[in-house]
Amino acid sequence: MPASALSRRERFALTVRGEETDRPPVWIMRQAGRYMPQYMALRERYSFRELCLDPEASAAAALLPPELLGVDILIIFNDILIPLEEMGLRVEFPGGGPEIMDPPRDEAALGRFRAVAFEDPPVAASIRLLRERTADEYPVLGFAGSPFTLLGYAVEGKMSRNAHEVRRLMLEQPELAHEMLRRLTDTVVSYLVAQAGAGGAAGVQIFESLGHILPAWEYGEFATVYTREVVRRFRAACPDTPVIVYSRGAAACLETMESTGADVLGVDWQLPLAEARRRTTRPLQGNLDPMVMLAPDAVEDAFGRMLEGFDWRRGWIANLGHGITPQASVESARRFVQCVRKLTGE
Ligand code: CP3
Repeated sequence: MPASALSRRERFALTVRGEETDRPPVWIMRQAGRYMPQYMALRERYSFRELCLDPEASAAAALLPPELLGVDILIIFNDILIPLEEMGLRVEFPGGGPEIMDPPRDEAALGRFRAVAFEDPPVAASIRLLRERTADEYPVLGFAGSPFTLLGYAVEGKMSRNAHEVRRLMLEQPELAHEMLRRLTDTVVSYLVAQAGAGGAAGVQIFESLGHILPAWEYGEFATVYTREVVRRFRAACPDTPVIVYSRGAAACLETMESTGADVLGVDWQLPLAEARRRTTRPLQGNLDPMVMLAPDAVEDAFGRMLEGFDWRRGWIANLGHGITPQASVESARRFVQCVRKLTGE
């Protein structure tokens, strides 16, 4: 199949159904970020909140990666913590990472943890603008945090390595944790439906970014149950929009991830792709170690190792195994995209 035979949207649509394509689509989690001088230049003009909420600013950030790297998929510029503000929390984005000023940790806090129904939030307007600017050439992905990942960030307040506060809440007040997860589930479903419906996103990704901190039983009862409910309700509302569920800790929980009903399973860098393929029939996304992005000359070799024993010809979206970091080099990201192109001699 000649490389020009498929549009980017067609290539994405075939891949998420596990069908053969000319080559895999490629994008990079957190592809518009601080590792890019051009992103830092935008941050001189706009605050982070403006980049998330102002459609013009958000589209400008989201368009940097296709221009500078040649990726095939656009992800809307936003943040998983934005809906928490609508629920009633105070979220701030100072330089060193986000902070919840009033983390909810008891029954009384439920008053500032309300389920929200979105109709046409700013993120949907941003998606429409982005599609218009690119004449719908690219599939645009919407996204949200999973209920559990959002619970973790909300309850911790500040990100900590062991997430003690949310673990304590789950162990000491499980009923309160479940009530908060139900409210998050309603909010996340509505946020994703708005992005696909009002916005017209070509797909959505759910970030189960704290999946790796839980033992299997808690992963099942506090994370998967709710992510599965999000997928079920999203699909009922938007049956034609594919869902990618990304989880950290996928090596331990791939089958559980599959049970969410996701179309595509996004895996972190610790699970070899060849092993993932033996364990599930679902299309996969991932999973180069993000640290490889520190060293441009290491990219090609690491890319080859990632694909050992893995048939990349169908059902694979090329990506990193987690978000690219501020320390990464743009040159590495460019070389990663080139590696995917070179697979089929492009
Ligand atoms: O992929 C993209 O280009 C779209 C943008 C995007 C951002 N956040 C922008 C951002 C996406 C997809 C996210 C998701 C997100 N946000 C996640 C899930 C993905 C993951 O990495 O597991 C999480 C956990 C968050 C919460 C969050 N927001 C953190 C932990 C931080 C600080 C640490 C960091 O990586 O910068 C943010 C801030 C944030 N979100 C920045 C960007 C570009 C940096 C803020 C700045 O410009 O000052």
